[in-house]
Amino acid sequence: MSTLDGGLVGLGVVGCGGAALDVVRSVGGSSSVRVVAVHDRDPARAEDLARRSGARIRPDLEGLLADPAVDAVYVALPHDLLAPMAVAALGHGRHVLVEKPLAVDRRGIASVRAAAAAAGRSVGVLFELRFVATVRAATDLVRSGALGAIRQVRIRTLIDKPPAYWSSGPTGRVSDPWRATRERAGGGVVMMNAIHQLDLVRSIIGQEVVRVAAETEPGVAGVEVEDVAAATLRFADGAIGSLVASAHAPGASAGETIEIDGTNGALRLGDPYADLPRLELYFRAPHLDHPEGRWIRIEPPAVDPWATAVDAFAAAIRSGGSPVPGLDDAEAALATVLALYESAAQRTVVAVRRSFDPPHDGGPLARRPEPDEMEAR
Ligand SMILES: NC(=O)c1ccc[n+]([C@@H]2O[C@H](COP(=O)([O-])OP(=O)(O)OC[C@H]3O[C@@H](n4cnc5c(N)ncnc54)[C@H](O)[C@@H]3O)[C@@H](O)[C@H]2O)c1
Repeated sequence: MSTLDGGLVGLGVVGCGGAALDVVRSVGGSSSVRVVAVHDRDPARAEDLARRSGARIRPDLEGLLADPAVDAVYVALPHDLLAPMAVAALGHGRHVLVEKPLAVDRRGIASVRAAAAAAGRSVGVLFELRFVATVRAATDLVRSGALGAIRQVRIRTLIDKPPAYWSSGPTGRVSDPWRATRERAGGGVVMMNAIHQLDLVRSIIGQEVVRVAAETEPGVAGVEVEDVAAATLRFADGAIGSLVASAHAPGASAGETIEIDGTNGALRLGDPYADLPRLELYFRAPHLDHPEGRWIRIEPPAVDPWATAVDAFAAAIRSGGSPVPGLDDAEAALATVLALYESAAQRTVVAVRRSFDPPHDGGPLARRPEPDEMEAR
């Protein structure tokens, strides 16, 4: 695998914007990964990231993809470029760690899947919130059956983004309005933000969303994609859920939360981006050493989710295993997001279509348009 000292995984970074900054900062002290090369169409941002990481600048993409020190490529580009770049990196025999959502449509996911199979290389997806300590604790609890059967899930994605967000992102590092267009971003606050929580819920409760009824609305001048959305969700094993998302909820702070109710208890998962993420639990009967009948707060030791996610990816590719989260996880989350958009566009309830679904043989849901076929709203 690696040509680096100590068998470190050499990471090449393509796209040196806001997301890459978090990753490079977090893997700075990693004992399993080293950033060895960076590339961006904007030389100044590549230089900045090279300075921060000690990596080599590769002004041309081919130079980075062919660099023998690059074992894996971290792709952090606007949404429409994630899948094509992942395919290019896989074509050069590199493993890839791709930012969410990995693709904006099913064709993109399928192209990455085919390229990974042809190259015999692995694909990891940066859903780093899975590695937040409170999320891991919640996952262990729910998967152990501590809450009983899951009945209801409530997801809130409430953010108060500055107006400049649509032209220069949350960090202001890049001036490019890609987030505002359906073609380049694939969607708004759901595709960009709520997708993290949809991924978290499916990993915590182990159930897929099977049906969605949604409304979305764009509200910012010049912005095509939705900044507000609301949806009801039906999960495979019977739970029902709701999602409300807003990119401009006035005063929202630490507002990306998940509540899960089961037959024997409930949990409240605070915003995983908070400095001190919260996890609160309620049990109807004593569970392990937890009391019944009152809310308790769990405080697992904090970890850096980005560093942990990248280390987990590196461990998977070194052992020849499949990274988790990976392609299947990106596909499942995207399938729910696409169903939500389709439901809003068609004003109907939509079954979530996965690649492993058998073809439909008729009925009102038989043919579902791709997002680019949908009416502009
Ligand atoms: N996992 C997370 O928590 C998280 C956080 C933020 C962003 N993201 C994701 O990361 C990705 C990038 O988002 P961002 O906020 O960094 O965007 P950004 O606009 O800040 O940065 C994108 C970078 O890509 C570069 N770029 C664009 N086209 C290019 C090309 N053809 N070749 C080379 N470089 C090119 C731009 O110059 C820019 O530096 C998105 O998928 C986004 O959803 C994930």
